Amino acid sequence: MKPSEVEASASRGAAPALREAGGPGSDDGQSAVAANPLEIRRLCKSYTRGKPVLKEIDLAIEGRGITVIIGPSGTGKSTLIRCINRLVEPTSGEILFEGRDVVQLGRADLRHVRRRIGMVFQEYNLVERLSVIENLLCGRLGYVSPWRAWLRRFPQADIDRAFGLLEAVGLADLAYQRADSLSGGQRQRVGIARAVMQSPRLLLADEPTSSLDPKTSVEIMELMTALAGELQIPVIVNIHDVVLGRRFADRVIGMSDGRIVYDGPPDDLTDDHLNTIYGGDGWL
Ligand SMILES: Nc1ncnc2c1ncn2[C@@H]1O[C@H](COP(=O)(O)OP(=O)(O)O)[C@@H](O)[C@H]1O
Ligand SMILES: [Mg+2]
Repeated sequence: MKPSEVEASASRGAAPALREAGGPGSDDGQSAVAANPLEIRRLCKSYTRGKPVLKEIDLAIEGRGITVIIGPSGTGKSTLIRCINRLVEPTSGEILFEGRDVVQLGRADLRHVRRRIGMVFQEYNLVERLSVIENLLCGRLGYVSPWRAWLRRFPQADIDRAFGLLEAVGLADLAYQRADSLSGGQRQRVGIARAVMQSPRLLLADEPTSSLDPKTSVEIMELMTALAGELQIPVIVNIHDVVLGRRFADRVIGMSDGRIVYDGPPDDLTDDHLNTIYGGDGWL
């Protein structure tokens, strides 16, 4: 992207940069559009036989909006999110993403589905010694070996798009800086831009603000929800900060001991619900 185009893109706001290389309408051979992009049915996960971490989770995610998952540490929030893109292998159940059961997919199909599921990580998962722009281009998803990706040449359209996205997340000036020279907030902006780079149809975020200070946490949540709004895709975010979660949620899922014990709007979440989710009382 030439400087004049970057300026033009910036003056139009983030949306054009996001949509340049295909937004939610773009397709690469998958055309089945389910009523809900994501439906989880009777999902169980045990890391150790006889000790289930997820217990018959049923959850349908609509086409847009921010779903925030809250719950005590160790209750299975990360496991749930990671089952969706099979970073964790489910033990049983179905995970229907755009009508296909992710649990049953072979490697090639899984790679294809993963391209459509953006993931933002708590610890960013950047390739530290590569520049910001290289991270966008080759660290795709945080699943792909950077060396494998790095050996490929990138189409000019991808490069233009990466620069447009850096502009959208406010990092255009840092394109050639190494990732390890950035602050936590800047790193997470790269992590978000990288997730959006692949034109996802679903965005997952596992504690994206846990390593950040409160002000930066709010900025990161604002950025993520704004981009998801522009792309018109749903977001599922695990967050242990209830106040922050409520502030950005359209829907709150409360988990306790591997089950969903609250599912509703943030405004309906009462202290009683929080006591059910987190256990005990007197801590509120
Ligand atoms: N890779 C793993 N191997 C074995 N046990 C795990 C693994 N990952 C998580 N667990 C266990 O599963 C439970 C849920 O963990 P997790 O999904 O990380 O919870 P949360 O994100 O809510 O803190 C915890 O008891 C944790 O120790
Ligand atoms: Mg977790």
